[in-house]
Amino acid sequence: MPIERLSTGVPGIDGMLGGGIPRGFLVAVTGEPGTGKTIFCLHFSWQGVKEGDKVVYVTTEESRESILSQAGQFNMDLGGAVAEGKTVVIDALMGRASDQWSLRSLNPEDLVEIVLKAKKHLGYGRARLVIDSMSAFWLDKPAMARKYSYYVKKVLSRWDFTVLAVSQYAITTSEAFGWGMEHVADGIIRFRRFVRGGVLRRYVMVEKMRQTLHDLRMYEISIEDGRGLVVLRPADMRAEDVALPSKVTEKIVRARKKEEEAL
Ligand SMILES: Nc1ncnc2c1ncn2[C@@H]1O[C@H](COP(=O)(O)OP(=O)(O)OP(=O)(O)O)[C@@H](O)[C@H]1O
Ligand SMILES: [Mg+2]
Repeated sequence: MPIERLSTGVPGIDGMLGGGIPRGFLVAVTGEPGTGKTIFCLHFSWQGVKEGDKVVYVTTEESRESILSQAGQFNMDLGGAVAEGKTVVIDALMGRASDQWSLRSLNPEDLVEIVLKAKKHLGYGRARLVIDSMSAFWLDKPAMARKYSYYVKKVLSRWDFTVLAVSQYAITTSEAFGWGMEHVADGIIRFRRFVRGGVLRRYVMVEKMRQTLHDLRMYEISIEDGRGLVVLRPADMRAEDVALPSKVTEKIVRARKKEEEAL
């Protein structure tokens, strides 16, 4: 049986993934601020709407209004999909008591509960879930990241969700806030940015995708008004050129271990 793959809504990224993300996977989307994580999640959601999937989008960093207005700039009528009952945007930033799709506490149990409520509301069938970001749920206890993401994955996998979970990177160390989630995730799509020749450039790389012969190259991307994320070409630098020196990585691992032992 061939694996069913869901289009991400970005043709270039589908190409890197051998067609798309296998149904039921939980994929971590990581990267520094402003690299395109949220915009990629919007493409994935909008593609879901177009294919008749049920779509649930949890936003912790931006309000629902901000997400819908950003989508509108790329001609994705997510607001319309919400009005038609095809999409639920769960606002975990504004936390309004009067709003049934508002999340007022950032803990994994409440997250799972409201996501399942949204799924029941949308109805039976193939579903997509975006959690933007997952890091917000363990900001005050980073050592719990692995346990929490395992819990979320386990519960949601029974509900026919294919999940994008955003995990942010600390700018100073390039260390993922979501340390640990990367192992639980079935795939990792990593966004990056560098200043080259005085210009900000963005890149994307598939670092892991289980059961997939994926592209190993890093690609330059651009974000275009009216269009969104576009994959341009393979980058002319090697991943090793931009990775942290191994000494730094080892130091981070040691520090993290200590932190976990202290708990
Ligand atoms: N309409 C637009 N046209 C062109 N570029 C845009 C447009 N809207 C946003 N951008 C670009 O996209 C960037 C934001 O991308 P995005 O929100 O996906 O980042 P992110 O990786 O989610 O960051 P964060 O971790 O801070 O949430 C902006 O900084 C801007 O450069
Ligand atoms: Mg974002």
